[in-house]
Amino acid sequence: MALQTSFTKLMSVRHPIASAPMGGEAGGALAAAVSDGGGLGLIGAGRGDREWLTREVGIARRATTEPWGIGFLVWAIDTDAVALALEFEPAAIMLSFGDPTPFAQRVRDSGVKLILQVTDLDEARRALDVGADIIVAQGGDAGGHCGENGIGTLSFVPAVVDLVGPTPVLAAGGIADGRGLAAALTLGAAGALIGTRFQATPEALVSPEIVKALLDADGQDTERNHTLDIARGAPWPHRYPARTLRNAVLDRWRGRDDELRSDTTALQEYREAAARGDLNVLPVWAGQAVGLVDSIESARDIVTTVTTEAEQALTRVAPR
Ligand SMILES: Cc1cc2nc3c(=O)[nH]c(=O)nc-3n(C[C@H](O)[C@H](O)[C@H](O)COP(=O)(O)O)c2cc1C
Repeated sequence: MALQTSFTKLMSVRHPIASAPMGGEAGGALAAAVSDGGGLGLIGAGRGDREWLTREVGIARRATTEPWGIGFLVWAIDTDAVALALEFEPAAIMLSFGDPTPFAQRVRDSGVKLILQVTDLDEARRALDVGADIIVAQGGDAGGHCGENGIGTLSFVPAVVDLVGPTPVLAAGGIADGRGLAAALTLGAAGALIGTRFQATPEALVSPEIVKALLDADGQDTERNHTLDIARGAPWPHRYPARTLRNAVLDRWRGRDDELRSDTTALQEYREAAARGDLNVLPVWAGQAVGLVDSIESARDIVTTVTTEAEQALTRVAPR
């Protein structure tokens, strides 16, 4: 059973899987491996560093002839970043976390597919208004930054599907294996966008220490917080907390974000520990499905396994 959906048709890919454009972690090698495996690999250009993006696009181009894309954090970029990305002729540009209106028309005019990630229904309506080709419905199970309402993927995805249909929806948040992909399809999504699982791959730009922390963790070891962004001075909009593994900083400052903000000694201590690469303080972004991540696999194999498992799961519940 091939899992053909409106997403696979629109993007001309074999499998209904996209890898998340994890800023700085999803480079060209990861995106290319996912695309070569039949999914849609997305380079995580984050805040739009030109040098980084140029290098990683070069890596992706040399490694695959399949479609791949580039993702940005909307709140952190300007139109130059999108213009540069369009010069690289990606198959898609994905925009997340903020108002995509200033960039949407430019992407659409270029013929590149516009993917918008949304965290609540207002964002989903706006994504429709600005002409998204694909909408990623991100539930609060997700690793990394997410919406402040915390609505879970299981509840959020069908609500977005009902709102934006027939625009293809990808489910994101807490999907790490074929059962999750099968569930997403059953909820009406046209596929899954997966982040945390792809961090434990040789292709991701993730240190071995962080990969080990992910392999050792369970979903209950994660926590949504603003605390680590405050500690590292990251100017994220308040409406987007992040899901990370628990650590010593969270244990010390939980519920006391305002105090932390004004404690210059504590902030200085944090910066010194972070500069040493101390994993007791650094954010390790992870979704609630991190407990399903227990091995390092090639990204290509993950695409194949997740697809095959999803086909088996769907056949199990509805034998043909
Ligand atoms: C390490 C990490 C970094 C992320 N960085 C970005 C990013 O730069 N831009 C973005 O759109 N989403 C980012 N995300 C969120 C993903 O797009 C996606 O919503 C999430 O990974 C899905 O949940 P999952 O991690 O449970 O698969 C990141 C997620 C992780 C885990």
